Amino acid sequence: MDTTFVAREQSRLLGELSSFLSIPSVSALPVHAADCRRAAEWLRDELQGLGCPTVQIIEGNGHPVVWAESPPVPGRPTLLIYGHYDVQPPDPLDEWRSPPFEPTVRDDRLYARGAADDKGQVFCLLKAYEATLDAERRPPLNVHFIFEGEEECGGHVIDDLLRAEPERTRADAALVCDMSYYAPGWPAVYTALRGICYAEISVRTLERDLHSGTYGGVAPNAIETLVRLLAKLKDADGEIQIPKLYKAVEAPAKAELKSWKHLPFDKAAFLREEVTGQVLTGLKEYSVFERVWALPTFEIHGIKGGFIGDGAKTVIPAQATAKVSLRLVPGQTYAKVGKQLERAVAALAPRWADVHVKLLHGGDPVQVDVSHPAFQVLDAAFAAVTGRPAVRVRAGGSIPIVPELGRTGAPVLLTGIGLPDDGLHSPNEKLDLAQLWSGIEIFGRFFEMFAEQGAAATAPPPASPA
Ligand code: BES
Ligand code: MN
Repeated sequence: MDTTFVAREQSRLLGELSSFLSIPSVSALPVHAADCRRAAEWLRDELQGLGCPTVQIIEGNGHPVVWAESPPVPGRPTLLIYGHYDVQPPDPLDEWRSPPFEPTVRDDRLYARGAADDKGQVFCLLKAYEATLDAERRPPLNVHFIFEGEEECGGHVIDDLLRAEPERTRADAALVCDMSYYAPGWPAVYTALRGICYAEISVRTLERDLHSGTYGGVAPNAIETLVRLLAKLKDADGEIQIPKLYKAVEAPAKAELKSWKHLPFDKAAFLREEVTGQVLTGLKEYSVFERVWALPTFEIHGIKGGFIGDGAKTVIPAQATAKVSLRLVPGQTYAKVGKQLERAVAALAPRWADVHVKLLHGGDPVQVDVSHPAFQVLDAAFAAVTGRPAVRVRAGGSIPIVPELGRTGAPVLLTGIGLPDDGLHSPNEKLDLAQLWSGIEIFGRFFEMFAEQGAAATAPPPASPA
């Protein structure tokens, strides 16, 4: 590849990425639907600009999918590149040092919502592709791009598309760049992702809100009822109290657990700098890695109800809702855990309250067999640029479409150029520019090396002498 590309084009690239990040493509908020479409159109224009003869915006029941195909390169393998153009809501806004949709460079880091998750990483792959185009704008291998706009909100457009047209995932490998290095200088490939089960639990105890003086002491309070119920779903030691939840959990293999012991890890620095709290919670008999990678979780994301305006109002709320989710690990499925949650809540609900569980979205956990030769090619690309092959780790996060990407048997390479302190989903999300520039070179090399290796693997055997 053209290794002078980044040095020559840096300021143009920074401008392009900033224009992409300026679009507030918050998929969860209906007011940003038009912005999500603009982000899809930005990708369409970019892919057309890169010379892809096929570029489509595919509509569905939600935010569109962007699909593109490079010019065909006969005899070369096909790589499917997945990413997402949507981002998480930026709140709390007053904690941002610069506005979330006004990308700003400070200390060689680019701050914006989506800088790392995942627009900046999508951009990295697009520019790696650009850097490997020849004079006729032909890439070294066939590339199919699929970018969705509902990864962060649990939408179904990409799911519906791939179920209806599974041939879109036919490829020699799929590449997902939506994660981070294990640590600075330590690139990673991921052997597992957790699944998720996202739900709302709502409680109604009264027909209407009441005066808390007149009726306080006798009227059942919906928020109190809800928090008592929530508190019973997980005990103080961090064990989730949903019957049979842990039964299906598959423990990691001994060798995998052992490999985690060799990872550099400073628990105190992790607590201080990443978690930013005073204590690590959860099942103390398990290591931190087991707790974030190999065990299910139950988290409360927000509680709605009663009076939350400025000042004081004396009211007994009639209704309250909590948004919650469980992370799922190998052995568990969204379908089963959803039912287990519904049953557990029904069993804990007092007879005198209306309690409902509404499952909003979910996805199954993923395990990836990293023995396919494509992973060695990725290691070689990382080693060439960073001096280290990728460490094998798991991720605590989820990417619901990943099982579908591997459905036709292609290896799914889960990796990323972010760093652990990028602040995904938090205020002041950032991407280190050095990671972006080296990432362009890493993936450019990966495309070229995978093209050659794949070509050798798919070449017809030499004709035998007559
Ligand atoms: N990029 C993340 C997933 C991720 C984070 C993987 C950290 C590995 C390490 C992704 O965009 C994300 O945040 N996904 C959501 C999915 C959910 C809303 C269905 C998540 O995990 O919360
Ligand atoms: Mn992401």
